[in-house]
Amino acid sequence: MKTTALFSIKGGVGKTAAAVNLAHLAARGGARTLLWDLDPQGAASFYLRIRPKLAGGSRRLLERKNRLGEAIKASDFTGLDVIPADFSLRRLVLELNDLDDPLARLRRLLRPLRDDYDLVFVDCAPGVSLVSDAVMRACDLVLVPTIPTTLSIRTYAQLVAHAREKGLDAAIVPFFSMVDRRRRLHRDVMLEFAGRSPECSRIFIPYATEVEQMGPRRSPVTAFGPASAPARAFEQLWSQVARRLGADG
Ligand SMILES: Nc1ncnc2c1ncn2[C@@H]1O[C@H](COP(=O)(O)OP(=O)(O)O)[C@@H](O)[C@H]1O
Ligand SMILES: [Mg+2]
Repeated sequence: MKTTALFSIKGGVGKTAAAVNLAHLAARGGARTLLWDLDPQGAASFYLRIRPKLAGGSRRLLERKNRLGEAIKASDFTGLDVIPADFSLRRLVLELNDLDDPLARLRRLLRPLRDDYDLVFVDCAPGVSLVSDAVMRACDLVLVPTIPTTLSIRTYAQLVAHAREKGLDAAIVPFFSMVDRRRRLHRDVMLEFAGRSPECSRIFIPYATEVEQMGPRRSPVTAFGPASAPARAFEQLWSQVARRLGADG
């Protein structure tokens, strides 16, 4: 079982869009896939038409008797299951803080699922917290959607510095998201950043109304618009990530 987080200090950068589409592509490719929605806003659960209800709330998630498996729901897509989020997750950081092993707990929670799933995607809330530290500890790979602007690059550098300082050694891979190639700033920032950041994916997700349509359609763009530019970009990103995870069959 390989675990990938979609994470950024920033909100509104395309974490959830990527988590939902990559998880859908992974499942479509035949992998037994779990999407863990860890953002109290529950957008990933919403897109996949899962009721945003976590029985027992965030507290039950962390119980010593591991009951994470009970929270799993099937989606409408073959091979894609979801652990939904609800608003109780906003307390997760406080509850983790009360544990003796906060950083190791999320990894421990996932361990019993390792024979049931090939791939786990974790859709994170924005911001650095004990929760995001624990996610980074639990994951093999952290994907960071990054809008090509000066401030986003700066925030990405803060994220990497924080992870190193905390000794969180998950591989961190940024990719550009919501890219508008007509904008000079986007082109310049991408060129400059890619030049000095070998870890940056060469695949980028274009700014596209089809991605916004995931809201009203409540479906991955890779499902309702597989020939669209963003769906093809997500496919390319997924094949790169799958190779990296050794999950490309
Ligand atoms: N590639 C894209 N093109 C156009 N709109 C996008 C794209 N990616 C995300 N969006 C829109 O931007 C908003 C934030 O995206 P989301 O994936 O929820 O970000 P995050 O999870 O980082 O907060 C949503 O309304 C979404 O529809
Ligand atoms: Mg989100």
